[in-house]
Parts: sequence; structure tokens; C-alpha cells
Amino acid sequence: MHHRNRLLLSLLSVIMGLATSTALAALQIVPGGTWTASNGEHLNAHGAGVIQVNNTFYLIGEDKSQGSSFFAINCYSSVDLVQWTYEGALLSRTTSSGDLGPNRIIERPKVIYNDLTKKYVMWMHVDSSNYGDAKVGVATSDTVCGKPYKYHGSFRPLGMESRDIGLFKDDDDDGRAYLLTEDRKNGLRINPLTPDYLSISGTTSTHLFPTAIESPALLKLSGRYFLFGSHLTGWSPNDNVYTTSTNLSGPWTDWKVFADKGSNTYASQTSFILNYGGPGNIMYMGDRWRSSNLQSSSYIWLPLNISDTTTTTVVLLKNRASWIPNAQSGLLWADSPAEKSYEGERGSYAGGAKEHHHLKHTK
Ligand SMILES: *[C@@H]1O[C@H](CO)[C@@H](O)[C@H](O)[C@H]1NC(C)=O
Ligand SMILES: *[C@@H]1O[C@H](CO)[C@@H](O)[C@H](O)[C@H]1NC(C)=O
Ligand SMILES: *[C@@H]1O[C@H](CO)[C@@H](O)[C@H](O)[C@H]1NC(C)=O
Repeated sequence: MHHRNRLLLSLLSVIMGLATSTALAALQIVPGGTWTASNGEHLNAHGAGVIQVNNTFYLIGEDKSQGSSFFAINCYSSVDLVQWTYEGALLSRTTSSGDLGPNRIIERPKVIYNDLTKKYVMWMHVDSSNYGDAKVGVATSDTVCGKPYKYHGSFRPLGMESRDIGLFKDDDDDGRAYLLTEDRKNGLRINPLTPDYLSISGTTSTHLFPTAIESPALLKLSGRYFLFGSHLTGWSPNDNVYTTSTNLSGPWTDWKVFADKGSNTYASQTSFILNYGGPGNIMYMGDRWRSSNLQSSSYIWLPLNISDTTTTTVVLLKNRASWIPNAQSGLLWADSPAEKSYEGERGSYAGGAKEHHHLKHTK
């Protein structure tokens, strides 16, 4: 009898232990793993950005169902950064030719909110299939996941080639926002936007880095700007770099590596840097591109450690098999004990996730 009770007790603790680790597992980020969204499909939001509205995070990125050609810009929502609800497509391929037509490139969509016009404003890289157009496009909506956004057209910012882009809304009084744009002939530019965020203000860049850097992402923390980006190695990853300044016009520090040297940023390319809960809860978001099947490309999201003292500023990214972001709870992110090996290296789908198959998706 006594013996059986003990057995029952230990069985119970095993079951409870399992329940606990399952609950934790549900809230873990597993960099490089299959990421199944509410629609049963692997997250299809590549080259993405995040905009937070109240307590909800909106992930807006490229639907790569049909390879590199533009198919759609998808929006997902989440409160915990782990469980993502598919909200729909914000822009979709049109049957007629034009920027959003067949065989076009639309990459790295980014959305910010304009307090004056009360519109959500999306900027994106717009290109022909041989990347010869090298333009930016702008779209707007009254709601963050507006379906669809109204597309306003494309142009070359300040008349310059523009491929990878980023978008940054400053937190200073005038609510100024900036376009980060890779100008292949001259370098990486920071261009100021007009107050409505629909075009470039004036005729000069706020800053031009005479350096070949793409996939730019800018974060401001305690009055200091941190700009991240990658070198130009196509779909293959490289050791991404960052620079900092207290003024967007510069001077900026020398570019430095932030992940383990030689790791190629844990085989990823910067797409966005998200501040989801103060200085301790900053997340690096990168794409691990799989050029043979772009939609299966995975997401390398990791906690970014920024330490900024009066004497030194250091940015460090460490690889982790999994971790718990603790969004909303007011807690710092935590290492997750349940996972001990790196996953997602093979690129095969796990957990029953499906690919997205549409014979046609036009409007
Ligand atoms: C966010 O919260 C504010 C204030 O409660 C509310 O007015 C606004 O509609 C909310 N926005 C969204 C998109 O839910
Ligand atoms: C940033 O630098 C520019 C150019 O040197 C200068 O005009 C501007 O006042 C500076 N801004 C701040 C906030 O110091
Ligand atoms: C962040 O990096 C600093 C050194 O730059 C280190 O002292 C600190 O422990 C790190 N924090 C975390 C949470 O890893």
C-alpha cells in the first residue's frame, strides 16, 4: 500500500513535470526550427519587420510561396512573440503588369505609424526580376493589418538605386522617420522622410556610409542609435556588423561584428531588431535563407545583449538552442532548459507544418 502510494506520487510528478515542460515549450523560441502559425503553415513572413500596437506585435514580411517572385506581403499577430496568428495578405500579386504584377520583386516590407495622418505606412524594396529597377515603393492603410494596403507607387529615393531597405521612426519630439537604403554605387544611406512619411524630405541624405552594407535595421536605446546590417553575399550568410552613434548624422563608430566571429551570424541575415520590453529585452531577428526553397527559410531570433556604459558600448549575440522571450510578463527573457541541441539545420518541416500551395492568388 505504502509502496503503491509512492509509485503513484512519482508517476504524478512525472506527469506534472511533463505538463510543466510542455507549457514552457509552447512559449519557447527555437531559432532555425519550423514555426507553425495558426493556419497550420510554416511562418511565411521573410525579410520581416515588427510593429507593436498596444499589446500586440504584428509581423509583416514576404510570402515566398512562389520563390523569389512577389506573391504577397503577409501579416501575423502575436502577444507573446511565439504563437502567431495569420491575419492575411496586405498586398498581393496583381494579374496586370506593374510593380505588383507577375515576375516582380517586392522585399523587406516595413511598417510604421504616422501620428499626423493616422495612417500605417509601409515601405518596401520594389524591383524587376533582374534587380535592375532598384526602387522603393510606398503603401498605406488605416489599420495595421489593413487588407489590403493602398499601393502608392515606386521611385528611386534621391534619384539613387535602392535595394534592401529599413525604416526607422525616431522617438524625439517631431516624430521624424527615416528610410535606410542600400545604394549599390555609393553605400548605405539614411534618408529623412517628409512629415506624412510618404516621400523623402529634401535633397540630401542624413548620413551616407561609404560601405557595402545591406539588410539595414536601426534601433534606438537610451538616446543611442544602433545600426545593424550584413555584407553583400547573396543568399549566403556572413558575419553581420553594427555601428553606433548618438546622432543619426554621425559620427558613427567603426562597423563591428556582434555574433561569434566566423559563425556567419549563426547562419542568418539581419531583418529587424525589436525592442519588446526595455533594454534587457531586445531581439535580433534574422533570416536563414534557403535559396532552393525560399518559403522554407527559417527564422533566427535571439536575445541581443546591449551593454551601454559611459565608457563602452558592446553588442553581443549568443546562439541558443531555444529561449523564452517573456513578452508581456515584465520579466527578462530566460534560457530554456528543455532544449539541449540545435534544431532546424536540415530545413525539413517538423510538427506537421505544411507548405503554402496556391494555384493562383490574384485580384
Ligand atoms: C490601442 O489602444 C488605444 C487606447 O486604448 C485605442 O484607442 C486604440 O484603438 C488601440 N489600437 C488598436 C489598433 O487596437
Ligand atoms: C546632429 O548632427 C548634426 C550635424 O552635425 C547637427 O546639425 C545636429 O544639431 C545634431 N543633432 C543633435 C541632436 O545633436
Ligand atoms: C551582457 O554582456 C555583458 C558584457 O558585455 C555581461 O556582463 C552580461 O552578463 C551579459 N548579459 C547577459 C544577460 O548575458
